[in-house]
Amino acid sequence: MPSMALNITQYCRFLLFSIMVSAVFPPCPAINVETEALLHFKNKLKDPLHVLDSWKESDSPCKYYGVTCDPVSGNVTGISLIGKSLSGEISPSISRLQSLQNLSLPQNAISGELPEEISRCSNLKVLNLTHNKMVGVIPDLSGLKDLESLILSFNTFSGQFPSWIGNLTGLLYLGLAGNNFDEGELPDSIGNLKNLNYLYLPKSNLIGQIPESLFELQALKVLDMSRNKISGTIPNSISKLKNIHQIELFDNKLTGELPPGIAHLSLLEEIDISSNHMHGTLPKEIGNINLTVFECHQNNFSGEIPAVFGDMHHLKGFSIYQNRFSGQFPANLGRFSPLEIFDISENRFSGEFPRFLCAGRKLTLLLALENNFTGRFPDTYAECKSLLRLRINKNHFSGEVADGLWSLPHVNLIDLGDNDFTGGISANIGSSTNLSQLVLQNNRLSSNLPSDLGKLTNLGKLLLNNNNFSGSLPAEIGALKKLLSLHLEQNSITGSIPAELGNCVMLVDLNLAGNDFSGIIPPTVSLMPSLNSLNLSGNKLTGPIPNNLKNLKLSSIDLSDNQLSGNVPHELLTIGGDEAFIGNGGLCIDQSTKIQRNSTLLNVCKEDWGRKRVFRDKSVFFIFIAVVLFIVLAGLVLLSYKNFKRIKADMENSIEGGNRVSPKCELACFHNMDIEAEEICDLEEQNLIGRGSSGRVYRLDLTKKGIVVAVKQLWKGEGLKAMAAEMEILGKIRHRNILKLYACLTKGGSSYLVFEYMENGNVFQALRRVKRDGKPELNWHQRYKIALGAAKGISYLHHDCCPPTIHRDIKSSNILLDKDFEPKIADFGVAKIAERSLRGSEWSCFAGTYGYIAPEFVYTLKITRKSDVYSFGVVLLELVTGKAAIGEEYGEGNDLVHWILTHFNHHENVLKVLDDKIVTETVTVRDDMVKVLKIGILCTAKLPNSRPSMREVVKMLVDAKPAIPISSDDQSNQD
Ligand SMILES: *[C@@H]1O[C@H](CO)[C@@H](O)[C@H](O)[C@H]1NC(C)=O
Ligand SMILES: *[C@@H]1O[C@H](CO)[C@@H](O)[C@H](O)[C@H]1NC(C)=O
Ligand SMILES: *[C@@H]1O[C@H](CO)[C@@H](O)[C@H](O)[C@H]1NC(C)=O
Repeated sequence: MPSMALNITQYCRFLLFSIMVSAVFPPCPAINVETEALLHFKNKLKDPLHVLDSWKESDSPCKYYGVTCDPVSGNVTGISLIGKSLSGEISPSISRLQSLQNLSLPQNAISGELPEEISRCSNLKVLNLTHNKMVGVIPDLSGLKDLESLILSFNTFSGQFPSWIGNLTGLLYLGLAGNNFDEGELPDSIGNLKNLNYLYLPKSNLIGQIPESLFELQALKVLDMSRNKISGTIPNSISKLKNIHQIELFDNKLTGELPPGIAHLSLLEEIDISSNHMHGTLPKEIGNINLTVFECHQNNFSGEIPAVFGDMHHLKGFSIYQNRFSGQFPANLGRFSPLEIFDISENRFSGEFPRFLCAGRKLTLLLALENNFTGRFPDTYAECKSLLRLRINKNHFSGEVADGLWSLPHVNLIDLGDNDFTGGISANIGSSTNLSQLVLQNNRLSSNLPSDLGKLTNLGKLLLNNNNFSGSLPAEIGALKKLLSLHLEQNSITGSIPAELGNCVMLVDLNLAGNDFSGIIPPTVSLMPSLNSLNLSGNKLTGPIPNNLKNLKLSSIDLSDNQLSGNVPHELLTIGGDEAFIGNGGLCIDQSTKIQRNSTLLNVCKEDWGRKRVFRDKSVFFIFIAVVLFIVLAGLVLLSYKNFKRIKADMENSIEGGNRVSPKCELACFHNMDIEAEEICDLEEQNLIGRGSSGRVYRLDLTKKGIVVAVKQLWKGEGLKAMAAEMEILGKIRHRNILKLYACLTKGGSSYLVFEYMENGNVFQALRRVKRDGKPELNWHQRYKIALGAAKGISYLHHDCCPPTIHRDIKSSNILLDKDFEPKIADFGVAKIAERSLRGSEWSCFAGTYGYIAPEFVYTLKITRKSDVYSFGVVLLELVTGKAAIGEEYGEGNDLVHWILTHFNHHENVLKVLDDKIVTETVTVRDDMVKVLKIGILCTAKLPNSRPSMREVVKMLVDAKPAIPISSDDQSNQD
């Protein structure tokens, strides 16, 4: 009993204590459950910034950082941790927080699936997980009847677009943008969300039409379904969205016209329907709305812009570029508006240019390029101090430019190119210190270049070519430390090239051709370490070529048609070819160089006596060395006389083959294999296997030999030239990765080349073939082998074969595959010897194949080894992505390289460019592919000098060898 009594007293004491405690603190049991739930939640998260350190078992959750409680009950009602670098996963324990109303964890790196238990948090009003890395299917949340904000944008949720969304009738705010949903339509039930204010669904893989029910959403203020593949028209019933403020439907596949019903949306401020396939004229009723932003660029709209746009009082943004609008532009646009952005480029507007765009003093972008505007460019813009970019190129503007336009304080781009402007550049240009591009090319501008140009220290591009500028080039130009590109060609500039030019250390591209420059080429030109292209042709320059010019890593040089004299440095000859130096009576080359290069355009220098004496002093020594060498050689010859004889015979053979390019040649064999002419001319149409740029290709069974060859019948005319090129190069080359040319033959005006036969066609075709099981024929291992083999072949051409050769048309369809998928470089019809080129010949016009052409070709028209590297880079990108070099999906003027670059900003996106047909579950294949992707990107660098050489490419590819060489998949491919 005593113990019992004791227990009772203890119990009473405890009870008393409890009552005292609960008088001070809110009830305990609930807190314990919630504390436990929160600590579980914390444990599942990684918290590098230690923001959850205050979450301790000993403390009340109401004191936890980011946690809010009901002030009366003490129940947890909210967790809000925004942008705290949290990763890890969301614990299902969250469902035990029965009073939770707000779970906001946006802008973290939380991954894993959204636990379905969250649907038990029946009081939840706000679920905001935007910008995380969550995956899987979004669980059915339709039970959360109180949910007002569901914001799961910018995660990687997958599966179908949630079909239960229509049950959440209390929603005010819905955001599911930027996830990986399957392609699908927006469910009709969206029309049930009668309270919805904000519908945010860009990049949600939506297809089909906008459901009619959506226009029942009377409360909707913001509708954003941009960047989907929505098709169909915008119906007139859009007029039912009485409360709409903002409509974003850009980047879809909408067709039809803009319905006049739009004018009933009296609260509408912003509308963007750009990048669709819409047409027709703009309804003039649109003037009834107080628009702030109107964008419809990149559609097929036509007709005039309704003049009512000129009456708008709130318009800030107006962008309608790339349509077919025409006629006069509304003269009053901007007169009563705070216009900031204005882009009407690439339309067909004519007549006078509107004068009031900057009346609100807010205009920053004025873009009207490629229209038919005429007359003077209005003087009003001289007062437009807010202007950042002014581009009105490719119009027919004439007359002088208002003085003030040259001295806008903030402007960073002025492009008046391709017009008929006259007059000069104002001396006040020095006030436009933010200018980074001044583009005035192809006008009739004249007079001197102001020395204040030197104050434009942010200038990167100065394009003044094809005008009537005269006077001298001011030495102040040397102050332009950021200048990348200087084009002054085709003007009448006189005087000497200022030595200060060498201070422009960033200069990549310098063109002073076609002026009246005199004096010497200042040796300081060689101080510009980035210089890539140098053109001083067609001037009156005298003196020698500065010897240190050869230290520059130029890819193009032209000094022709001057009055230069002295020796042409061998290195520069290699870059520019003879034609870069012709038209200079005094320039000459060594006798040995002349022979070696087979040069016909340049004279041999007269003996340099000084050098000869030095030579003579050393000559005794040389004779001694020569005698020793002779004895050693003679010994060797005696030892292996037979062997030597055979090699010599081989050499003679191949030289003979190489030279026999005359059409008279009947049959020349390059490999040890006798083929009979009759057999080859027996080509039957049914054996036609392809058509190339230079001829038809047939498969031919040589029955007597028991082998199969490919015979290319060249087109007449062009054929002979191509044949000469292919023979000259291929006849001498023996390399595992270069297509073997067995023989050539001419008969009755037709020319035939006999090659080894390639069972598996070319890489372009192979990338598109699938096996019976639907998988691509080429798995990653094989693609890697192709990449490496082809790289070795090209590297051999560039660096190891004699003479070094540039292929000039590397592309996936010129890389053939034998029966083991070993790649061989083919089609040398346009290839050329690296060190030789002919001025104005058909070769320099040849540009390669669109999609594979290196960007520098646009300005240098010269092809170097680095252009092959670029083209090969494109092939690598094809292998990695499985996509074609060009295609409609990349948009106008863009190609695979551009497409890749736009995806290369985020790691996530990088993975998206890989060919999803061969990215298997294993991470290693993916990583291996990324390695080759990176090499492809290096090879397609914009500047030739930043591209690796093919030798380096081979090394890098060897390092990128797949981790698991042969997979089971591979085996099945081999049989
Ligand atoms: C607090 O939570 C408890 C247990 O979940 C619940 O019974 C109670 O109703 C809640 N109080 C309030 C005010 O929500
Ligand atoms: C959701 O989070 C984002 C990012 O912090 C924020 O901008 C947005 O306003 C939040 N939305 C709601 C409804 O809480
Ligand atoms: C969702 O709505 C559909 C029809 O509107 C209804 O049949 C279903 O029971 C609802 N689901 C929930 C969980 O309320």
